[in-house]
Amino acid sequence: MKVVAINGSARKEGNTFILLNVVLDELRNEGIESELISLAGKPIQGCMACYQCFKNKDFRCAVDKDIVNECLAKMREGDGILLGSPTYFSDVSAGMRALIERSGLVARANDYMFKRKVGAGVIAVRRAGSIPAFNSINLFLLYNQMLIPGSSYWNMAIGREPGEVKNDAEGMQTMKTLGQNMAWLLKKLQA
Ligand SMILES: Cc1cc2nc3c(=O)[nH]c(=O)nc-3n(C[C@H](O)[C@H](O)[C@H](O)COP(=O)(O)O)c2cc1C
Repeated sequence: MKVVAINGSARKEGNTFILLNVVLDELRNEGIESELISLAGKPIQGCMACYQCFKNKDFRCAVDKDIVNECLAKMREGDGILLGSPTYFSDVSAGMRALIERSGLVARANDYMFKRKVGAGVIAVRRAGSIPAFNSINLFLLYNQMLIPGSSYWNMAIGREPGEVKNDAEGMQTMKTLGQNMAWLLKKLQA
């Protein structure tokens, strides 16, 4: 079993990276393989609404000049998908938003290609706006017929400078519990 994590932060190894790895460590403890893809330094444009994906139905986006098709292939291969984003002006980053638009339409065009995978989102935040960001990811997962495990709180942790989220004990525990619940659900689904 494998979980693919995508970090939508512009900072490759910042707070979102730390949070994703706390979740992935729990999954690895349960013998679940993982891979982390960073969108940092890899600009992604939004959906052009060309609807070519509905004609091609090849699990790919027709705009083949950025990292989206690589993400799509990894997301398709994974049993679970973990999406992480910092809070940027009360929502996900532009990179994560563009990935949501593009991969969401391709998935819809290909008979909901993420259907019944396990999915979750995690959010880093300095102070406020994490809930709309978390909602954006959850709405994407739900639209795609994915199954979302819960945690002991909403999946967010507080920090501004890279590393500061480690001081948020409740946030770190939320990530650990999320990883444990994600592993539990993945194993139940495989049984
Ligand atoms: C463009 C931009 C917008 C931001 N908007 C918010 C915001 O709306 N609310 C907030 O609490 N923090 C905001 N922040 C702070 C980040 O969410 C915070 O530093 C987070 O820990 C960054 O995660 P990272 O280290 O993974 O990049 C913003 C940061 C940037 C660069």
